[in-house]
Amino acid sequence: MSTETSILLPTATVDLFLRDSKTIEAAKSLQHDWRFARVSVRVHDGDVEAAIRMYENAKSADIIMVETDTTEKAFIDRLGVLSGSCDEGTSAIVIGPVNDVNLYRSLTAMGVSDYLVRPVPVDTLSEVIAGTLIEKLGASGSRLISVIGSKGGVGVTAISQILANLSSETLLQKTLLIDAAGAWSSMGVGMGFDPVASTTEAIKAVVGKDADSLRRMLYQSNDKLAVLATGMEPMLEVSPQIAQFEEILNTTMSSYPVVIVDLSGAGPALKKSILTRSHEIMIVSTPTLASLRSARSLMTEVKKLQGGKGDHLDLIVNMAGIAPGKEVPKGDIKAALDHEPEAIIPFDPKVFIGTENEGRKVSADKVGAEIAMKLMPLLQKATGLRHETNDDAAQGGALGSLMSKLKAKK
Ligand SMILES: Nc1ncnc2c1ncn2[C@@H]1O[C@H](COP(=O)(O)OP(=O)(O)O)[C@@H](O)[C@H]1O
Ligand SMILES: [Mg+2]
Repeated sequence: MSTETSILLPTATVDLFLRDSKTIEAAKSLQHDWRFARVSVRVHDGDVEAAIRMYENAKSADIIMVETDTTEKAFIDRLGVLSGSCDEGTSAIVIGPVNDVNLYRSLTAMGVSDYLVRPVPVDTLSEVIAGTLIEKLGASGSRLISVIGSKGGVGVTAISQILANLSSETLLQKTLLIDAAGAWSSMGVGMGFDPVASTTEAIKAVVGKDADSLRRMLYQSNDKLAVLATGMEPMLEVSPQIAQFEEILNTTMSSYPVVIVDLSGAGPALKKSILTRSHEIMIVSTPTLASLRSARSLMTEVKKLQGGKGDHLDLIVNMAGIAPGKEVPKGDIKAALDHEPEAIIPFDPKVFIGTENEGRKVSADKVGAEIAMKLMPLLQKATGLRHETNDDAAQGGALGSLMSKLKAKK
Protein backbone atom coordinates (compact mmCIF):
# COMPACT_ATOMS: atom_id res chain seq x y z
CA MET A 1 0.00 0.00 0.00
CA SER A 2 1.46 3.33 -0.96
CA THR A 3 2.05 5.67 1.95
CA GLU A 4 0.30 8.68 0.46
CA THR A 5 -3.01 6.81 0.42
CA SER A 6 -2.40 5.16 3.77
CA ILE A 7 -4.28 7.86 5.62
CA LEU A 8 -7.76 8.46 6.86
CA LEU A 9 -9.75 9.41 3.79
CA PRO A 10 -11.96 12.49 3.64
CA THR A 11 -15.75 12.32 3.99
CA ALA A 12 -17.16 11.11 0.66
CA THR A 13 -19.63 8.78 -0.98
CA VAL A 14 -18.74 6.08 -3.48
CA ASP A 15 -21.39 4.19 -5.46
CA LEU A 16 -20.41 0.96 -7.14
CA PHE A 17 -22.65 -0.70 -9.72
CA LEU A 18 -21.40 -4.24 -9.91
CA ARG A 19 -22.29 -7.74 -11.07
CA ASP A 20 -19.01 -9.61 -10.57
CA SER A 21 -19.24 -11.43 -7.25
CA LYS A 22 -15.51 -11.19 -6.43
CA THR A 23 -15.47 -7.44 -7.02
CA ILE A 24 -18.66 -7.08 -4.94
CA GLU A 25 -16.96 -8.92 -2.11
CA ALA A 26 -13.89 -6.69 -2.38
CA ALA A 27 -16.05 -3.56 -2.37
CA LYS A 28 -17.97 -4.69 0.69
CA SER A 29 -14.78 -5.37 2.60
CA LEU A 30 -13.78 -1.71 2.19
CA GLN A 31 -16.38 -0.90 4.81
CA HIS A 32 -14.12 -2.52 7.40
CA ASP A 33 -10.98 -0.66 6.32
CA TRP A 34 -10.12 2.06 8.86
CA ARG A 35 -9.08 4.44 6.09
CA PHE A 36 -12.67 4.33 4.79
CA ALA A 37 -14.28 5.22 8.14
CA ARG A 38 -15.66 8.46 6.72
CA VAL A 39 -16.35 7.13 3.24
CA SER A 40 -19.81 5.78 2.56
CA VAL A 41 -19.28 2.87 0.14
CA ARG A 42 -22.57 1.77 -1.43
CA VAL A 43 -22.63 -1.40 -3.45
CA HIS A 44 -25.50 -1.71 -5.95
CA ASP A 45 -26.39 -4.75 -7.99
CA GLY A 46 -26.48 -3.47 -11.56
CA ASP A 47 -24.74 -1.80 -14.46
CA VAL A 48 -24.73 1.55 -16.24
CA GLU A 49 -28.53 1.42 -16.63
CA ALA A 50 -29.02 1.15 -12.88
CA ALA A 51 -26.67 4.10 -12.42
CA ILE A 52 -28.57 6.22 -14.95
CA ARG A 53 -31.88 5.42 -13.21
CA MET A 54 -30.44 6.19 -9.81
CA TYR A 55 -29.11 9.65 -10.60
CA GLU A 56 -32.12 10.84 -12.58
CA ASN A 57 -33.44 12.30 -9.34
CA ALA A 58 -30.71 11.76 -6.79
CA LYS A 59 -27.51 13.64 -6.14
CA SER A 60 -24.58 11.69 -7.55
CA ALA A 61 -21.78 10.30 -5.41
CA ASP A 62 -18.21 11.65 -5.37
CA ILE A 63 -17.07 8.53 -7.21
CA ILE A 64 -19.20 6.25 -9.37
CA MET A 65 -17.82 2.89 -10.44
CA VAL A 66 -19.66 1.04 -13.17
CA GLU A 67 -19.05 -2.49 -14.31
CA THR A 68 -19.74 -3.39 -17.92
CA ASP A 69 -19.86 -6.66 -19.89
CA THR A 70 -19.33 -4.97 -23.20
CA THR A 71 -16.98 -2.32 -24.44
CA GLU A 72 -19.08 -1.63 -27.55
CA LYS A 73 -20.10 1.81 -28.72
CA ALA A 74 -23.57 1.24 -27.20
CA PHE A 75 -21.96 1.19 -23.75
CA ILE A 76 -19.95 4.33 -24.44
CA ASP A 77 -23.19 6.05 -25.49
CA ARG A 78 -24.92 5.02 -22.28
CA LEU A 79 -21.90 6.29 -20.33
CA GLY A 80 -22.46 9.64 -22.01
CA VAL A 81 -26.09 9.61 -20.82
CA LEU A 82 -24.91 8.79 -17.30
CA SER A 83 -22.45 11.67 -17.23
CA GLY A 84 -25.33 13.96 -18.27
CA SER A 85 -27.28 13.12 -15.12
CA CYS A 86 -24.32 13.35 -12.77
CA ASP A 87 -23.30 16.40 -10.79
CA GLU A 88 -20.25 18.28 -11.90
CA GLY A 89 -17.15 16.98 -10.15
CA THR A 90 -18.28 13.37 -10.00
CA SER A 91 -15.49 10.96 -10.91
CA ALA A 92 -16.33 7.87 -12.95
CA ILE A 93 -14.34 4.65 -12.99
CA VAL A 94 -15.19 1.83 -15.38
CA ILE A 95 -14.67 -1.87 -14.68
CA GLY A 96 -14.64 -3.98 -17.81
CA PRO A 97 -14.09 -7.56 -19.00
CA VAL A 98 -10.84 -7.14 -20.95
CA ASN A 99 -7.60 -5.21 -20.95
CA ASP A 100 -7.92 -2.86 -23.88
CA VAL A 101 -5.59 0.08 -24.35
CA ASN A 102 -7.70 1.77 -27.00
CA LEU A 103 -10.77 1.54 -24.83
CA TYR A 104 -8.79 2.95 -21.90
CA ARG A 105 -7.68 5.87 -24.07
CA SER A 106 -11.14 6.67 -25.33
CA LEU A 107 -12.66 6.42 -21.86
CA THR A 108 -10.08 8.71 -20.27
CA ALA A 109 -10.54 11.11 -23.17
CA MET A 110 -14.21 11.38 -22.27
CA GLY A 111 -13.38 12.14 -18.66
CA VAL A 112 -13.43 8.70 -17.03
CA SER A 113 -10.72 8.68 -14.35
CA ASP A 114 -9.71 5.05 -14.62
CA TYR A 115 -10.42 1.72 -16.27
CA LEU A 116 -9.97 -1.54 -14.35
CA VAL A 117 -10.31 -5.14 -15.42
CA ARG A 118 -12.56 -7.44 -13.39
CA PRO A 119 -12.33 -9.11 -10.96
CA VAL A 120 -10.81 -6.15 -9.15
CA PRO A 121 -8.81 -7.26 -6.09
CA VAL A 122 -9.48 -5.36 -2.89
CA ASP A 123 -6.02 -3.74 -2.81
CA THR A 124 -6.44 -2.30 -6.29
CA LEU A 125 -9.96 -1.16 -5.51
CA SER A 126 -8.98 0.63 -2.30
CA GLU A 127 -5.88 2.12 -3.90
CA VAL A 128 -7.79 3.52 -6.89
CA ILE A 129 -10.62 4.92 -4.75
CA ALA A 130 -8.19 6.38 -2.20
CA GLY A 131 -6.06 7.95 -4.92
CA THR A 132 -9.08 9.46 -6.66
CA LEU A 133 -10.54 10.86 -3.44
CA ILE A 134 -7.27 12.39 -2.30
CA GLU A 135 -6.80 14.00 -5.68
CA LYS A 136 -10.35 15.34 -5.66
CA LEU A 137 -10.87 16.33 -2.06
CA GLY A 138 -7.38 16.53 -0.67
CA ALA A 139 -6.06 14.51 2.24
CA SER A 140 -8.02 15.23 5.32
CA GLY A 141 -7.19 13.79 8.68
CA SER A 142 -9.14 12.90 11.75
CA ARG A 143 -11.40 15.20 13.70
CA LEU A 144 -10.17 16.58 16.97
CA ILE A 145 -13.04 17.67 19.22
CA SER A 146 -12.28 19.58 22.41
CA VAL A 147 -14.74 19.98 25.23
CA ILE A 148 -14.00 22.77 27.70
CA GLY A 149 -15.89 24.28 30.61
CA SER A 150 -16.34 27.93 31.49
CA LYS A 151 -15.50 26.84 35.04
CA GLY A 152 -15.06 23.66 37.04
CA GLY A 153 -17.81 21.16 37.64
CA VAL A 154 -20.08 22.26 34.79
CA GLY A 155 -20.21 18.76 33.28
CA VAL A 156 -17.37 18.68 30.71
CA THR A 157 -16.28 15.18 31.64
CA ALA A 158 -19.85 13.90 31.61
CA ILE A 159 -20.50 15.48 28.20
CA SER A 160 -17.20 14.23 26.74
CA GLN A 161 -18.22 10.71 27.71
CA ILE A 162 -21.64 11.07 26.09
CA LEU A 163 -20.03 12.37 22.90
CA ALA A 164 -17.52 9.51 22.84
CA ASN A 165 -20.28 6.94 23.27
CA LEU A 166 -22.42 8.51 20.54
CA SER A 167 -19.47 8.72 18.18
CA SER A 168 -18.54 5.07 18.64
CA GLU A 169 -21.94 3.46 19.03
CA THR A 170 -24.24 5.57 16.92
CA LEU A 171 -21.92 7.04 14.29
CA LEU A 172 -19.83 3.83 14.40
CA GLN A 173 -16.55 5.74 14.36
CA LYS A 174 -13.35 4.41 15.81
CA THR A 175 -13.07 6.93 18.63
CA LEU A 176 -10.46 7.84 21.23
CA LEU A 177 -11.35 9.71 24.41
CA ILE A 178 -8.55 11.51 26.23
CA ASP A 179 -8.81 13.30 29.55
CA ALA A 180 -6.10 15.96 29.71
CA ALA A 181 -6.46 16.25 33.49
CA GLY A 182 -3.55 13.93 34.35
CA ALA A 183 -3.90 12.72 37.94
CA TRP A 184 -6.95 14.96 38.36
CA SER A 185 -8.89 12.88 35.86
CA SER A 186 -12.28 11.63 37.01
CA MET A 187 -12.92 9.76 33.76
CA GLY A 188 -12.29 6.30 35.24
CA VAL A 189 -15.25 6.55 37.61
CA GLY A 190 -17.85 7.32 34.95
CA MET A 191 -16.33 4.95 32.38
CA GLY A 192 -15.70 2.14 34.86
CA PHE A 193 -11.93 1.62 34.63
CA ASP A 194 -8.79 2.17 36.71
CA PRO A 195 -5.91 4.24 35.32
CA VAL A 196 -2.98 2.02 34.32
CA ALA A 197 -0.26 4.55 33.42
CA SER A 198 0.92 8.09 33.94
CA THR A 199 0.72 10.71 31.22
CA THR A 200 4.53 10.70 31.10
CA GLU A 201 4.48 6.96 30.34
CA ALA A 202 1.94 7.49 27.57
CA ILE A 203 4.15 10.18 26.05
CA LYS A 204 7.15 7.88 26.28
CA ALA A 205 5.24 5.15 24.45
CA VAL A 206 4.18 7.41 21.56
CA VAL A 207 7.55 9.12 21.18
CA GLY A 208 9.29 5.73 21.21
CA LYS A 209 6.73 4.34 18.74
CA ASP A 210 6.03 1.60 21.26
CA ALA A 211 2.62 0.48 19.98
CA ASP A 212 2.34 -2.45 22.39
CA SER A 213 2.82 -0.28 25.47
CA LEU A 214 0.40 2.30 24.14
CA ARG A 215 -2.19 -0.41 23.48
CA ARG A 216 -1.93 -1.52 27.10
CA MET A 217 -2.71 2.04 28.20
CA LEU A 218 -5.94 2.10 26.25
CA TYR A 219 -9.10 0.99 27.99
CA GLN A 220 -11.42 -0.48 25.38
CA SER A 221 -14.87 0.74 26.45
CA ASN A 222 -16.67 -0.82 23.49
CA ASP A 223 -15.70 -2.23 20.09
CA LYS A 224 -14.93 1.18 18.67
CA LEU A 225 -14.23 3.31 21.72
CA ALA A 226 -10.86 3.46 23.46
CA VAL A 227 -10.06 5.67 26.43
CA LEU A 228 -6.52 6.67 27.30
CA ALA A 229 -6.34 5.26 30.82
CA THR A 230 -3.78 7.67 32.24
CA GLY A 231 -3.82 9.40 35.61
CA MET A 232 -1.50 7.18 37.69
CA GLU A 233 0.84 10.07 38.48
CA PRO A 234 0.66 11.82 41.88
CA MET A 235 -1.85 14.67 41.96
CA LEU A 236 0.70 17.25 43.02
CA GLU A 237 3.32 16.35 40.41
CA VAL A 238 4.21 18.93 37.75
CA SER A 239 2.43 18.16 34.45
CA PRO A 240 4.40 17.06 31.39
CA GLN A 241 5.50 19.53 28.74
CA ILE A 242 2.81 20.67 26.37
CA ALA A 243 4.80 19.89 23.24
CA GLN A 244 5.08 16.33 24.49
CA PHE A 245 1.38 16.03 25.13
CA GLU A 246 0.87 17.03 21.51
CA GLU A 247 2.80 13.91 20.51
CA ILE A 248 -0.03 11.84 21.94
CA LEU A 249 -2.45 13.60 19.61
CA ASN A 250 -0.11 13.36 16.62
CA THR A 251 0.17 9.62 17.01
CA THR A 252 -3.38 8.71 17.92
CA MET A 253 -5.02 10.96 15.32
CA SER A 254 -3.47 8.95 12.51
CA SER A 255 -5.46 5.89 13.52
CA TYR A 256 -8.60 7.30 15.18
CA PRO A 257 -11.01 9.21 12.92
CA VAL A 258 -12.51 10.90 15.97
CA VAL A 259 -10.47 12.05 18.96
CA ILE A 260 -12.31 13.75 21.82
CA VAL A 261 -10.32 15.62 24.45
CA ASP A 262 -11.80 16.52 27.83
CA LEU A 263 -10.09 19.77 28.84
CA SER A 264 -11.90 20.23 32.15
CA GLY A 265 -8.81 19.43 34.21
CA ALA A 266 -6.03 20.80 31.98
CA GLY A 267 -3.97 23.89 32.78
CA PRO A 268 -4.43 27.05 30.68
CA ALA A 269 -1.33 26.51 28.52
CA LEU A 270 -2.32 22.96 27.60
CA LYS A 271 -5.91 24.10 27.01
CA LYS A 272 -4.68 26.75 24.59
CA SER A 273 -2.38 24.46 22.65
CA ILE A 274 -5.06 21.79 22.19
CA LEU A 275 -7.81 24.30 21.39
CA THR A 276 -5.59 25.87 18.73
CA ARG A 277 -5.46 22.65 16.75
CA SER A 278 -9.02 21.45 17.41
CA HIS A 279 -11.48 21.14 14.53
CA GLU A 280 -14.45 21.69 16.82
CA ILE A 281 -14.61 23.30 20.25
CA MET A 282 -17.55 22.76 22.57
CA ILE A 283 -17.85 25.15 25.48
CA VAL A 284 -19.92 23.94 28.40
CA SER A 285 -21.55 26.33 30.85
CA THR A 286 -24.31 26.12 33.41
CA PRO A 287 -27.12 28.69 33.06
CA THR A 288 -25.83 30.64 36.08
CA LEU A 289 -24.51 34.15 35.85
CA ALA A 290 -20.97 33.38 37.04
CA SER A 291 -20.55 30.52 34.59
CA LEU A 292 -22.04 32.41 31.65
CA ARG A 293 -19.86 35.41 32.27
CA SER A 294 -16.74 33.22 31.99
CA ALA A 295 -18.26 31.48 28.96
CA ARG A 296 -18.58 34.84 27.26
CA SER A 297 -14.91 35.69 27.81
CA LEU A 298 -13.81 32.20 26.81
CA MET A 299 -15.84 32.35 23.60
CA THR A 300 -14.21 35.61 22.64
CA GLU A 301 -10.75 34.14 23.17
CA VAL A 302 -11.57 30.92 21.33
CA LYS A 303 -12.96 32.87 18.38
CA LYS A 304 -9.66 34.72 18.16
CA LEU A 305 -7.81 31.40 18.13
CA GLN A 306 -10.03 30.31 15.24
CA GLY A 307 -9.26 33.42 13.22
CA GLY A 308 -12.27 35.47 14.39
CA LYS A 309 -15.01 33.32 12.92
CA GLY A 310 -16.18 30.89 15.53
CA ASP A 311 -17.87 28.57 12.99
CA HIS A 312 -16.45 25.63 14.87
CA LEU A 313 -17.43 26.80 18.28
CA ASP A 314 -20.50 25.44 20.06
CA LEU A 315 -22.15 26.44 23.30
CA ILE A 316 -23.68 23.74 25.46
CA VAL A 317 -25.78 24.92 28.36
CA ASN A 318 -25.70 22.11 30.89
CA MET A 319 -27.72 21.57 34.05
CA ALA A 320 -30.64 23.70 32.91
CA GLY A 321 -33.07 23.82 35.81
CA ILE A 322 -30.43 23.54 38.55
CA ALA A 323 -31.54 26.78 40.20
CA PRO A 324 -35.17 27.48 39.28
CA GLY A 325 -35.91 31.18 39.29
CA LYS A 326 -32.22 32.06 39.69
CA GLU A 327 -30.96 31.03 36.27
CA VAL A 328 -30.42 33.19 33.23
CA PRO A 329 -33.33 32.49 30.82
CA LYS A 330 -32.53 31.05 27.39
CA GLY A 331 -33.39 34.24 25.51
CA ASP A 332 -31.11 36.29 27.73
CA ILE A 333 -28.24 33.82 27.24
CA LYS A 334 -28.46 34.31 23.51
CA ALA A 335 -28.52 38.09 23.86
CA ALA A 336 -25.68 38.25 26.39
CA LEU A 337 -23.35 35.84 24.57
CA ASP A 338 -24.43 36.78 21.07
CA HIS A 339 -24.69 33.07 20.37
CA GLU A 340 -27.63 30.73 20.51
CA PRO A 341 -26.82 27.61 22.57
CA GLU A 342 -26.43 24.61 20.25
CA ALA A 343 -27.70 22.31 22.98
CA ILE A 344 -29.43 22.64 26.32
CA ILE A 345 -29.07 19.70 28.69
CA PRO A 346 -31.39 19.45 31.70
CA PHE A 347 -30.20 19.13 35.28
CA ASP A 348 -30.87 15.51 36.16
CA PRO A 349 -28.76 14.21 39.05
CA LYS A 350 -30.60 10.88 39.09
CA VAL A 351 -29.42 10.17 35.55
CA PHE A 352 -25.96 11.80 35.67
CA ILE A 353 -24.74 11.05 39.18
CA GLY A 354 -26.62 7.77 39.22
CA THR A 355 -24.95 6.38 36.10
CA GLU A 356 -21.59 7.92 37.03
CA ASN A 357 -21.54 6.17 40.41
CA GLU A 358 -22.27 2.86 38.75
CA GLY A 359 -19.69 3.35 35.99
CA ARG A 360 -22.47 3.12 33.41
CA LYS A 361 -23.02 5.39 30.44
CA VAL A 362 -25.72 8.05 30.65
CA SER A 363 -27.58 6.48 27.75
CA ALA A 364 -27.93 3.21 29.69
CA ASP A 365 -30.79 5.05 31.37
CA LYS A 366 -33.94 5.59 29.27
CA VAL A 367 -34.22 9.30 30.07
CA GLY A 368 -30.42 9.57 29.78
CA ALA A 369 -30.53 8.18 26.24
CA GLU A 370 -32.91 10.96 25.22
CA ILE A 371 -30.69 13.56 26.88
CA ALA A 372 -27.62 12.14 25.08
CA MET A 373 -29.30 12.49 21.68
CA LYS A 374 -29.49 16.26 22.21
CA LEU A 375 -25.75 16.26 21.55
CA MET A 376 -26.02 14.33 18.29
CA PRO A 377 -26.41 17.39 16.00
CA LEU A 378 -23.20 18.86 17.44
CA LEU A 379 -21.33 15.65 16.86
CA GLN A 380 -22.61 15.40 13.31
CA LYS A 381 -21.45 18.94 12.67
CA ALA A 382 -18.05 18.20 14.20
CA THR A 383 -17.45 15.00 12.24
CA GLY A 384 -19.28 15.80 9.02
CA LEU A 385 -21.05 12.48 9.36
CA ARG A 386 -24.73 11.73 9.13
CA HIS A 387 -26.50 9.60 11.66
CA GLU A 388 -26.67 6.52 9.50
CA THR A 389 -25.72 2.96 10.26
CA ASN A 390 -23.24 1.05 8.13
CA ASP A 391 -26.03 -1.33 7.21
CA ASP A 392 -28.03 1.52 5.70
CA ALA A 393 -25.00 2.65 3.77
CA ALA A 394 -24.36 -0.87 2.51
CA GLN A 395 -27.88 -1.33 1.23
CA GLY A 396 -27.88 -1.49 -2.51
CA GLY A 397 -30.68 -1.73 -5.01
CA ALA A 398 -34.13 -0.27 -4.49
CA LEU A 399 -33.73 0.61 -0.83
CA GLY A 400 -30.35 2.24 -1.34
CA SER A 401 -31.63 4.32 -4.17
CA LEU A 402 -34.78 5.25 -2.29
CA MET A 403 -32.75 6.27 0.72
CA SER A 404 -30.43 8.46 -1.26
CA LYS A 405 -33.41 10.08 -2.97
CA LEU A 406 -34.94 10.81 0.38
CA LYS A 407 -31.69 12.34 1.50
CA ALA A 408 -31.27 14.33 -1.67
CA LYS A 409 -34.72 15.88 -1.20
CA LYS A 410 -34.00 17.08 2.32
N1 LIG B 1 -26.90 17.73 33.43
C1 LIG B 1 -26.48 17.27 34.61
N2 LIG B 1 -27.36 17.02 35.61
C2 LIG B 1 -26.94 16.57 36.82
N3 LIG B 1 -25.66 16.29 37.11
C3 LIG B 1 -24.74 16.51 36.17
C4 LIG B 1 -25.09 16.99 34.86
N4 LIG B 1 -23.96 17.07 34.13
C5 LIG B 1 -22.95 16.65 34.92
N5 LIG B 1 -23.41 16.31 36.14
C6 LIG B 1 -22.62 15.83 37.29
O1 LIG B 1 -21.93 16.94 37.82
C7 LIG B 1 -20.67 16.54 38.33
C8 LIG B 1 -19.57 17.36 37.68
O2 LIG B 1 -19.50 17.01 36.31
P1 LIG B 1 -18.14 16.77 35.54
O3 LIG B 1 -18.49 16.24 34.21
O4 LIG B 1 -17.20 16.00 36.38
O5 LIG B 1 -17.66 18.30 35.44
P2 LIG B 1 -16.31 18.92 34.87
O6 LIG B 1 -15.60 17.88 34.11
O7 LIG B 1 -16.76 20.07 34.03
O8 LIG B 1 -15.55 19.40 36.04
C9 LIG B 1 -20.55 15.05 38.03
O9 LIG B 1 -20.86 14.33 39.20
C10 LIG B 1 -21.57 14.82 36.94
O10 LIG B 1 -22.10 13.52 36.97
MG1 LIG C 1 -13.74 16.87 34.57
